Amino acid sequence: MFNTLEVKKTVFEQERTIKNHIIFDERQQLNIASCPALSNAPLYFAENNVFLFNGDVLSENTFTNEFADLIVTSPPYNVDIKYNSNNDDLSYEEYLDFTRKWIANCYKWAKDQCRFLLNIPLDKNKGGQRSVGADITVIAQKIGWKYHSTIVWNEGNISRRTAWGSWLSASSPFVIAPVELIVVLYKNDWKKISGTKISDISKQEFMDWTNGLWTFNGESKKRIGHPAPFPIQLPYRAIKLFSYTRDVVFDPFSGSGTTILTAANNDRVGVGLEIDQKYCEVARKRILSERSII
Ligand SMILES: C[S@@+](CC[C@H](N)C(=O)[O-])C[C@H]1O[C@@H](n2cnc3c(N)ncnc32)[C@H](O)[C@@H]1O
Repeated sequence: MFNTLEVKKTVFEQERTIKNHIIFDERQQLNIASCPALSNAPLYFAENNVFLFNGDVLSENTFTNEFADLIVTSPPYNVDIKYNSNNDDLSYEEYLDFTRKWIANCYKWAKDQCRFLLNIPLDKNKGGQRSVGADITVIAQKIGWKYHSTIVWNEGNISRRTAWGSWLSASSPFVIAPVELIVVLYKNDWKKISGTKISDISKQEFMDWTNGLWTFNGESKKRIGHPAPFPIQLPYRAIKLFSYTRDVVFDPFSGSGTTILTAANNDRVGVGLEIDQKYCEVARKRILSERSII
């Protein structure tokens, strides 16, 4: 015997399953028309299992529904990088406000078991010391994301080691860690029971990457043609460790398309969002030349 509440709950669960269901065609490619969350969004480019949208992460109507199984992203750091379409030199309060808005939108677009790998700075030293990593982690949790762990990315960036503050004096020395954070968050449940349940990570990779100190170099801006790309290693490890094959991997600050390219090259669906049309074009060309036969 069902009581009314149980019946209502079952109907709700069924509706939610239908809404979230993403249909793959006979070639195992995502049929975007079948995915209500994506079908009305401003598509810039689609190629096999890569979908790049030219739009604004601050606009909550860009996507209408939950669709992401894994979010891997690196937002602008507010360090005065000369991007084409956004000001990267906000006051700290404005920057935290921007952070609140985009992280809240991603929460709406995330499925129940979505994991969120957030690459952010540890701290800020120029123009006043700020605990950026800690502040953004608190904001994400206030929005509803649950905290799981933090990976420290040792990027071996030695150029940042020259701002000493007071040289050989205790008057005002600066301590600068040449690392960035990859904060691991999730929406509702950490245990992942939705999706194909197929993992494609090797024993060695699993052992190496569950050690939360990741060491690899940054990417060359010149080679990629974008002012702040991250290296393929970052989304590659995140995708293999935290998602199943066929999962939808979303990057709301897609830039040169590193995450979506890596997703598609590893049997996932890559969905990117990027505000700047010029960077969308950089990503399109890169995907066409660097993607494996998917
Ligand atoms: C740090 S870069 C990301 C680079 C990317 N991880 C890569 O490997 O190329 C941040 C990107 O966010 C984009 N962006 C800034 N504000 C945005 C917004 N409101 N909506 C969507 N994209 C935005 C910028 O144009 C820039 O390409």
